[in-house]
Amino acid sequence: MATSKLIFFLIQVMFLPFVFDFANAQGLKVGFYAKSCPKAEYIVQKVIAQTLAVAPSLSGPLLRMHFHDCFVRGCEGSVLLNSSTNQAEKDAIPNLSLRGFGVIDRVKSALEKECPGVVSCSDILAIVARDVVVADMGGHWDVETGRRDGNVSNMIDALLNLIPPSANISTLKAGFSQRGLSAKDLVVLSGSHTIGMSHCSSFNNRIYNFTGKGDTDPTLDANYIAKLKMKCKPNDQKTLVEMDPGSFKTFDDSYFTLVAKRRGLFQSDAALLDDSETKAYVKSHATPMGQASFFTDFGVSMVKMGRIGVLTGNAGEIRKVCYKIN
Ligand code: HEM
Repeated sequence: MATSKLIFFLIQVMFLPFVFDFANAQGLKVGFYAKSCPKAEYIVQKVIAQTLAVAPSLSGPLLRMHFHDCFVRGCEGSVLLNSSTNQAEKDAIPNLSLRGFGVIDRVKSALEKECPGVVSCSDILAIVARDVVVADMGGHWDVETGRRDGNVSNMIDALLNLIPPSANISTLKAGFSQRGLSAKDLVVLSGSHTIGMSHCSSFNNRIYNFTGKGDTDPTLDANYIAKLKMKCKPNDQKTLVEMDPGSFKTFDDSYFTLVAKRRGLFQSDAALLDDSETKAYVKSHATPMGQASFFTDFGVSMVKMGRIGVLTGNAGEIRKVCYKIN
């Protein structure tokens, strides 16, 4: 297990410099479907409201799905494609914990009924990400649309480009900067961990075997370790824990309070205290006073993330269904 994790990490370090074309983000704009499908955003919002009314725990996975789409080949819907002749991104280990693909399919079929062949699956992911944050009491932002869908999805691309929870601050900053995102975007977008759940396996090394000697991560609060051990057994692959205990269904700024108290669940969360800029942001938002500016910052960073490697104009296609190319 330890060896496969090391190999995975080394592959990532070697290949992370994936070059994205930021120039083609020019085709995006707010209200892209205003004439071609005026009800598009309303329809997305309606399906998401209906979904969360019966399955509120889907907001976390749906927000995360847009991030996992954008960081692998850009925001072009490749995370949604099923494996066919090759293994697709969906089947890569970090994506096995994604949920909610059926929701995206339902949104897409509602849109196809209203305006066939117009709204891309990659845009659906971007709009859904905003709508779940709003539904969880977070702030609103205008989503740029006009993305088109790609027709390639490879498991290996996901393995090489999704940053692991064990990442340190240099790996995190490099991974974001290669995609045109700053240290501020990194700390702001990590604030997504205010909602949702994590498998014990994503952080169990920190509470049971940090350096291979049966020790714990010294940067994680000892009382929190004791609580986590009550929920997660060693080698536990199944159990889910709240990432922001007590308010994991509410999109607020309590994530920063947790990180400041050394209760961020992942090493990547704790690492935000290892850089002066990200640390300053954590500290200044570890108070209820910081919430309004966090919401504004979050919208700005989500728009930036949504521009990564997009296909616009005549590139790509508008898929008829989101899980396969036309
Ligand atoms: C900075 C690097 C990041 C790392 C290393 C990371 C890693 C992770 C991991 C390991 C999980 C738990 C998966 C599981 O065990 O089920 C998770 C959950 C989550 N992540 Fe991140 N993440 C990062 C950034 C982001 C960003 C940028 C977003 C969104 C913009 C995001 C949104 C989420 C959400 C909402 C969840 C909860 C998912 C659920 O409830 O199923 N993360 N993340």
